[in-house]
Amino acid sequence: MRKKIVAGNWKMNLTWDDSQALAMELAMLQSTQGQSGPEMILAPAFPNLVAVAQAIKGAAGMHLAAQNVHQAASGAYTGEVSVSMLKSVSCTHAIIGHSERRQYFGESNQLLAQKINSVLQAGLTPIYCFGETLEEREGEKTFKVIESQLREATFHLNSDQFSSLILAYEPVWAIGTGKTATPEQAQEVHAFVRKLIADQFGTALADGVSILYGGSVKADNAKELFSQPDIDGGLVGGASLKASEFAAIARSF
Ligand code: PGA
Repeated sequence: MRKKIVAGNWKMNLTWDDSQALAMELAMLQSTQGQSGPEMILAPAFPNLVAVAQAIKGAAGMHLAAQNVHQAASGAYTGEVSVSMLKSVSCTHAIIGHSERRQYFGESNQLLAQKINSVLQAGLTPIYCFGETLEEREGEKTFKVIESQLREATFHLNSDQFSSLILAYEPVWAIGTGKTATPEQAQEVHAFVRKLIADQFGTALADGVSILYGGSVKADNAKELFSQPDIDGGLVGGASLKASEFAAIARSF
């Protein structure tokens, strides 16, 4: 079912104490939204997952996400974290394929397909990120790049599996730069993605998938973005580190 969602990607920021304090403040603010608010997903760094899990325990509509996961179930992969470890600390979601993972850690669509498989197998929800670089946009390759990012990492799934995904369109040139895609630019890509999904899996499934926009989402541009017909919420970096700002984004539907 298509849902309204705001997800906060805290990246490599905040200590245990800071993470817990921020999550507690958000849980309080979220409780005033009642049933009508969007789902809120928080993605702290690995060591702080437990702190956030404790802070949001019992809070309606709040969920815990990892920022990454290893594709293997267990074994000799020093420094890595498996999906069963995430599950054991109450993670329900995992961000997969963030552009920083693609850029700095060389994650390919093929690898991301494996990560998505592991996350789904464990019963968690992948938040699959994709988006073009500035060079690709200027070279008019946006749609081609996005199609292969989707096709190669997710189109091997069956309909049931695909319908469990959350998607996030994040143009790389808009992440952490203060440059937001205009609502029209974002909507154009979201509509294209929904059409690709419809062609592959049928219209009913495509209509039910939540597609988030990410890239310099702030309280003062969220409303315009979220009012687009194919934008179901935001994956927010910098602006998710301040409770009042992120809560204001969550009120922007
Ligand atoms: P930003 O990051 O909101 O700081 O641009 C978004 C993201 O990387 O998910």
